[in-house]
Amino acid sequence: MVYKTLSKAFLIAGLAVGVSSGALAADAPKTMMGASDAMLANTCAGCHGTDGVSSGPAIPNISGLSNDYFVEIMKGYAAGTVPSTVMGRMAQGYTEDEIKQLAKFYIAKPFVKAKQDFDPKLVKEGGKLHDKYCEKCHAEGGQSAEDDAGVMAGQWTPYLMIQFADFNAGHREAPKKMAKKMKDLLSKEGQSGLDALISFYASQQK
Ligand code: HEC
Ligand code: HEC
Repeated sequence: MVYKTLSKAFLIAGLAVGVSSGALAADAPKTMMGASDAMLANTCAGCHGTDGVSSGPAIPNISGLSNDYFVEIMKGYAAGTVPSTVMGRMAQGYTEDEIKQLAKFYIAKPFVKAKQDFDPKLVKEGGKLHDKYCEKCHAEGGQSAEDDAGVMAGQWTPYLMIQFADFNAGHREAPKKMAKKMKDLLSKEGQSGLDALISFYASQQK
């Protein structure tokens, strides 16, 4: 209702200044004040699916994350402190309240683990490395969404690899203690350590 009234008001204003209706239609989503959670999430569905299950392996699955992580990363994208290809521009289109609505919509659904290839020979070693370097904050083998650390178990491998590269190049800022653990992992285990971790996360499909 509000949306209808608003767009009518914009149409009148638009006609008055001679703006074409095509341009108005393109601007419409920004005027969706009071939109429902599901209406807001429609914009995300093309890439993250209607249930947060993404349409391609470089796009993360986003249902079932922690509320804090979801809200913080959206704010980070909008502010440019978290590097992104598309999410920076996406996130800038929403107010803080709308970001909270989007979080509410997606965290209510379970995280869906990706079905993907991995090297079965590396899984055991990856699990050990995870316990040693990462489990403290990424609990339950990287599945827990309880704190503010995101989900790694069953997340798409290409997406995770981009995050590792961004963290290690300093493009994405890791919490200090995590940065130290990553450095230790790389200096002691090298690239094969990362490969083992990735296989461990990808092996969790249920
Ligand atoms: C055009 C495709 C596209 C659209 C549309 C899109 N996303 Fe994304 N999303 C991505 C990609 C790709 C990433 C990885 C970061 C990047 O490169 O931008 C991502 C990352 C994320 C993450 C981080 C997940 C994690 O585990 O760290 C969240 C949360 C997210 N998107 C939420 C949303 C929401 C909410 C919307 C709708 C308002 C949305 N996205 C719309 C492609 C998209
Ligand atoms: C001291 C706690 C801590 C430790 C130890 C830690 N992390 Fe993290 N990790 C975090 C937090 C907090 C975030 C969220 C950062 C943000 O908001 O950008 C995070 C985010 C991530 C992400 C991004 C998830 C996403 O969906 O984009 C990856 C990947 C990751 N960590 C990998 C690791 C790995 C691998 C290890 C072990 C080598 C590790 N972390 C150890 C706290 C930690």
